[in-house]
Amino acid sequence: MRPIQMVDLKAQYQRLGNEIDARLQSAVRNAAYIKGPEVAELESAMGEGLSPLRASSSLVSAFPHLSGSVQALGVANGTDALQLAFMALDLPAGSEVITPAFSYAALAEVLFLLNLNPVFVEVDPHTFLMDVEAVRGAIGPQTRAIAPVHLYGQTADMSAVLSLAAEHNLYVVEDCAQALGSQYCSDELSGFAGTMGHIGCTSFFPSKNLGCMGDGGMVFTRDASLAARLRALANHGQEQKYQHRYIGLNSRLDTLQAAILLAKWPHLKDFGSRRAAAAQRYDEALSGHDALAVPARSPLSTHVYHQYTLTLQNPAHREPLRQKLAAAGIPSMVYYPTPLHRQEAYAVALSAGRGRTTDLHSTENLCQRVISLPICPELDTEQQSYICNQVKAALDSL
Ligand SMILES: Cc1ncc(COP(=O)(O)O)c(C=O)c1O
Repeated sequence: MRPIQMVDLKAQYQRLGNEIDARLQSAVRNAAYIKGPEVAELESAMGEGLSPLRASSSLVSAFPHLSGSVQALGVANGTDALQLAFMALDLPAGSEVITPAFSYAALAEVLFLLNLNPVFVEVDPHTFLMDVEAVRGAIGPQTRAIAPVHLYGQTADMSAVLSLAAEHNLYVVEDCAQALGSQYCSDELSGFAGTMGHIGCTSFFPSKNLGCMGDGGMVFTRDASLAARLRALANHGQEQKYQHRYIGLNSRLDTLQAAILLAKWPHLKDFGSRRAAAAQRYDEALSGHDALAVPARSPLSTHVYHQYTLTLQNPAHREPLRQKLAAAGIPSMVYYPTPLHRQEAYAVALSAGRGRTTDLHSTENLCQRVISLPICPELDTEQQSYICNQVKAALDSL
């Protein structure tokens, strides 16, 4: 049996190496290392691929951007994508942005950096997605934006988010770093994660569903004026060379990373299907075990299984389970052990009046109980039945 990794990047390179090498060699030979043609090619391929959308006429009249096609902008990493998104919205200092507390730190970090105040809300304890009723209850006079995170590979309830945003005149920024390629579908709206709000942000961190071989990220928007502003902001605030209209950043997607991504992008759908097949096998082997719950699926979204995350009945089982799995050669991860409002730096900021929390009992609970198992397109059935047997044996022994 091959050694088990959370994400087996070596096995992926073995499978796709020829296509990646060909793209890389052509970019190296071409020698346009900064803003080479591969970046523009990737931006247009992804913009076109992610554009399909259906929206009710009432959503389109509230959000005219929904009638545009997706413009994609390659940037240096997913955190920069989020920073650029909020820079482009140019919200007054002290504006509130509602976002889940059960998430990766990048979004909250960017808000604090930009003098915006996060309002941390709850996620649904079964799907792990932002609880839109909690968002409704959290809206206050300073609220200017909602920032859902499409956690683990499913898309949050975007038609509910957009309806709420329309009611209160709010921006919507989507963090789709974990859900690129996931499709949302309700009666009023269907589209790809990251392409329904005003701005969507993703990461090409190597372990992401579409990962490069270093850092990379992308911003999506259907709004032409936001697209122009984002492009200038990512280029030192310049619309024309040496004309700095805004205080910006130097945030570029590297040409060689774009070349790698061009080789992988046509496989994204297949990566999702392979991950979904692996998730199905986990479900079959593990569901019904009384010490755990398998991940719930949102009825409104496809799942691209960036993570396959179990919820343990007994939080005291998590550490011994992880240790037993590690001893059997099986890595596992906890995404995330500490809710954002309890992170030291953010707790200090919150106690100084920068941002607010709401009822976060499900978040607190999940942080103690979740455990993510290895999942990637290359996980094979032999590895997976070994993992499932070890998980069951470990839990039965606790
Ligand atoms: C949900 C989420 N948002 C943002 C990021 C930040 O992406 P990057 O590491 O490319 O800056 C990540 C990456 O781990 C993420 O998982």
